[in-house]
Amino acid sequence: MLSKKKPGAWAALGVAAAIVAAYAYAQQPDTGASAAPAAQAADTTMIERGARLAAVGDCMACHTAKGGEPYAGGLPIHTPFGTIYSTNITPDAETGIGKWSLEDFKRAMREGVSRDGHKLYPAFPYPRFTKTTDEDIAALYAYMMARTPVKQAAPENDLMFPLNFRPLMTAWNLLFLDEGELPPPDTPQSDEWLRGRYLVEGLGHCASCHTPMNMFGAEKSSAAYAGSVIDGWTAPALTELGQAPKPWTAEQLVSYLRTGLATEHGAAAGPMLPVTQNLADADPADVQAMATYLLSLQKPAANQPAAAAPANADTASITRGAALFAASCAGCHSASAPMSEIGQRPLLALGSSVNGSSARNAINMVLWGNSWQGSSSAHYMPPFSAVLTDDQVADVLAYVRQEYAKKPAWQDLPGMVANVRKEAQPQ
Ligand code: HEC
Ligand code: HEC
Ligand code: HEC
Repeated sequence: MLSKKKPGAWAALGVAAAIVAAYAYAQQPDTGASAAPAAQAADTTMIERGARLAAVGDCMACHTAKGGEPYAGGLPIHTPFGTIYSTNITPDAETGIGKWSLEDFKRAMREGVSRDGHKLYPAFPYPRFTKTTDEDIAALYAYMMARTPVKQAAPENDLMFPLNFRPLMTAWNLLFLDEGELPPPDTPQSDEWLRGRYLVEGLGHCASCHTPMNMFGAEKSSAAYAGSVIDGWTAPALTELGQAPKPWTAEQLVSYLRTGLATEHGAAAGPMLPVTQNLADADPADVQAMATYLLSLQKPAANQPAAAAPANADTASITRGAALFAASCAGCHSASAPMSEIGQRPLLALGSSVNGSSARNAINMVLWGNSWQGSSSAHYMPPFSAVLTDDQVADVLAYVRQEYAKKPAWQDLPGMVANVRKEAQPQ
């Protein structure tokens, strides 16, 4: 994903891009001359397989605008360099991928090149999708081609120079795209682990949110799954799942990924919520395999500084927060609240948002709540952005941190709340 920092560095990369651009265009022909897809009578098993893979790849989440037709694109993806819109990937001949052959589709997934030869931005996770096998790409293609065509052109991107110059991506790809399938692992592994790795590292593109980015918006390979910030939320490290107050079990991970809920852990919220809603339609055995792989990535706990008595805790703020909590939160979050019985929701003490080193996710949760889904109310939390001031949110979270996390106090909470309110998009 494109993100963060330093347009200046991009300009430098732009020079490199200019050098290779002409060459690149010679190498990346418009495949428009190729025959339109021979409406392959894709069999239903293949389409169904494609549907389950599309659920792992989150295609729907990015390619559907708010309230829009599925896969018709137009969802704005905000970056510090401007806004990129997802495109229409329904099989409409003019505005979608209706004229795309399987080869065109494969080239987009593997190399990040559109049918007419223009370079795609890595906001489309092709640097991860490139790991997908021919067979799975064919199934995805069959599924996409069996969608209802929708006529809808994507809005123009609004990107600053030099990013609006697509050939720049040629240089980016030379530096950061590791095209093609994964190499075999160093040590022999079970089939389930291999399947899990294939999905997590490839189609699942979990790293595009959970791995920090370098200044060019490419994943820092030295810090795989070490956690990052996305759309104003912290995507926690996936290498420290064993260090949660209650270490994650495989069963809990599977449940979390498929339903957004697990016992002894906070509910999925923010940008993770749609991921879990998509994974609900994935093959359950695939999600199980992903959990197996994830659990193999765990790092041993670093020698943690002895849980210091909350330093610099602002006691006046905590006292005000306790009163606010009793009035606004305890009805759901106290140990005796029905929520803990009915939805098996854990105490705030167990979730990563309250225990995290950053207050981001707790702030997001209080400001924006968690949206209602389907028939289950177990995730639902009302938003408080219109009810509580920044200082009140800071107070209530100073109290929550002190009461439930027993970790050092979060610093400058009011400032952080103001920032998160400004930058985060309500989900
Ligand atoms: C994180 C968001 C995201 C996800 C997930 C995602 N896409 Fe995209 N995709 C985009 C964006 C943004 C573009 C447009 C990129 C550009 O214009 O440079 C795009 C472009 C494409 C294109 C090129 C279309 C064209 O007209 O050039 C194809 C094909 C595509 N996506 C297929 C898929 C499939 C299949 C999946 C699921 C396996 C998927 N995408 C998942 C964001 C996403
Ligand atoms: C669009 C960005 C995004 C993608 C893609 C994504 N995640 Fe997340 N993930 C997040 C965010 C943000 C959170 C924190 C959500 C919260 O606190 O409720 C999160 C939370 C989690 C958690 C809970 C961690 C904890 O300590 O509480 C797990 C497990 C997880 N993700 C696994 C995955 C896996 C596996 C994938 C790939 C299939 C994935 N994520 C893809 C953004 C993402
Ligand atoms: C109507 C019930 C309700 C009220 C009122 C409510 N919450 Fe929640 N809250 C929830 C639910 C449900 C969740 C998701 C449950 C979970 O994380 O498992 C949640 C989640 C959270 C989380 C994230 C927990 C995690 O680890 O993921 C925080 C932090 C939080 N609430 C704080 C508050 C605060 C502070 C207040 C008062 C200002 C409040 N809540 C009021 C229902 C409520």
